Amino acid sequence: MKTIVVSNAKGGCGKSTIAMNLSTFFAREGKRTLLIDMDSQSQLTQWLDAGNGFDVEMTLYPALQGSVPIESVIQQTQYANLRFIASTLELESLGREMTDRVGYESTLAMMLPQLASDFDYIVIDSPNQLSPIQANAIVPADLIVVPIDGTKAVRSYAHLFKLLYRLRPDHDNLVMHVLSDVSRQPIVRERTIAMLKLFGLHNADTEIRTCPFLATVDENGANIFEYAPQSNGAKDIAALGREVFARLDPPEMLLLNAPKGNNTLISSNSPHHEQTN
Ligand SMILES: Nc1ncnc2c1ncn2[C@@H]1O[C@H](COP(=O)(O)OP(=O)(O)OP(=O)(O)O)[C@@H](O)[C@H]1O
Ligand SMILES: [Mg+2]
Repeated sequence: MKTIVVSNAKGGCGKSTIAMNLSTFFAREGKRTLLIDMDSQSQLTQWLDAGNGFDVEMTLYPALQGSVPIESVIQQTQYANLRFIASTLELESLGREMTDRVGYESTLAMMLPQLASDFDYIVIDSPNQLSPIQANAIVPADLIVVPIDGTKAVRSYAHLFKLLYRLRPDHDNLVMHVLSDVSRQPIVRERTIAMLKLFGLHNADTEIRTCPFLATVDENGANIFEYAPQSNGAKDIAALGREVFARLDPPEMLLLNAPKGNNTLISSNSPHHEQTN
């Protein structure tokens, strides 16, 4: 089981759009996926509710509080292979209350191993502010997808980075900075890439281009693959999903003996593999 957290300390940079659609990409690829809404604004909770009408009373709150097991708040969605844990405004107050407990940042991380045999991927949408809830999202992450929608998002990432630095000494290989919705403003895009470079940060291979369908998919209670399968948004989210697969579950590499000691590393998925066997 791998946990992917979509996070940045800037509002409106595309976190929920990416979390929702990326999780449906995994589910469509046959991965047993759990999407967790950890943002008290509950954007994804409303989004999924628009399509299915699930129980908005059953949320992450009692599980994080410790009064029920996390399994009991997982809900079905309208999508095969995709399950969901809803959020609630009360997560905000819970965040403040939980800081009394020693090790409060690991509350969620302690629960997730119980789900390891049920899910291949967990995708977490996180709040746009640094908070105890944000910390709980970061601790279990195998990968943090940071949407960057301009130079302000790079500065906001500097704040998130401080939290990362404290909570995750292994942060070096943990983050993917993904340009999000900057393609309609080429100058902003260039400045943003330059600023990432200045801070020694790399942007991911994939960029989520500005896409009018991604902007309206939530209103329609759908995912981008059903709503606009030919759109740039669908192509880019799928490309991001494949990039995440490559980072978290790289294909097994085989060392094959080529003639004259010219050893070649070749993927077991490669068509050449069959030919050499
Ligand atoms: N690639 C894109 N192209 C066009 N519009 C986009 C794109 N990505 C996101 N948007 C739109 O930008 C707005 C902000 O996106 P989103 O809600 O996903 O950001 P967020 O980071 O989750 O915001 P918040 O911090 O409030 O939780 C939304 O109206 C969304 O529809
Ligand atoms: Mg959001």
